[in-house]
Amino acid sequence: MFFTHALTRRPGRDLAAGLTTANLGVPDYPAALAQFDAYVDALTGCGLTVTVLDALEGHPDAHFVEDTAVVTPEVAVVTNPGAAARKAEVETIETALASFRETVRIKSPGTVDGGDVLMMGKHVLIGLSDRTNAEGALQLGNVLADFGYTWATLPVAAGLHFKSSVNAVADDTLLTTETFADHPALAGYHKILVVPEEAYAGNTLLINGHLIMPIGFPDTRKKLQALGKPIIMLDTCEFRKMDGGLTCLSLRF
Ligand code: GLY
Repeated sequence: MFFTHALTRRPGRDLAAGLTTANLGVPDYPAALAQFDAYVDALTGCGLTVTVLDALEGHPDAHFVEDTAVVTPEVAVVTNPGAAARKAEVETIETALASFRETVRIKSPGTVDGGDVLMMGKHVLIGLSDRTNAEGALQLGNVLADFGYTWATLPVAAGLHFKSSVNAVADDTLLTTETFADHPALAGYHKILVVPEEAYAGNTLLINGHLIMPIGFPDTRKKLQALGKPIIMLDTCEFRKMDGGLTCLSLRF
């Protein structure tokens, strides 16, 4: 998929109040802002025009904008995030996306977090997780089917979201942790396996032929180098403390 735009949101001063299971300590706000700025620079360097929304104080996970929508070339599906504390984030996102696409909404009792949705061309993999339920997946799949997409679900057996562990690194190639590698829904793709001690590196981002990956994962880096794409390394440690990573910080379209 070729992208021209990204939508991001600046982290707020209250980011440490967000949801997390990581047990990696309290994020440092100035360091998080520096990492965010480097991330925006990297997206710009991949050729994207980046919209940076203002921080949404009182919504400490709101900079993880990926969870609030699924954007295809045809439509922006605004989600109903699975965590109660995150549901209100979608209002400003819908307004921002309405400049670019027709928008539709996932409705309760359906829930979807965009972090569970991986677009592989016209096929969509939807992880069923604590955040994304079967009704939400059905609503999303039905909307996308109207535009010619096929879709499949699979359980998120590890990590917060499906894309915490599995991401596209080429049109036909997935970077995946061992947990997901043998699932039949991934059978049609080439796979590059992330070793268990580098599981966080499964959250690597493919943008217009560039790979953006987190620093500190040499085995995964070596495997990705074999693809011959330029690799941009970013430090995301402050976001990792809040269960976040490279994909979560933007919507690309
Ligand atoms: N901290 C990201 C999330 O739990 O949604």
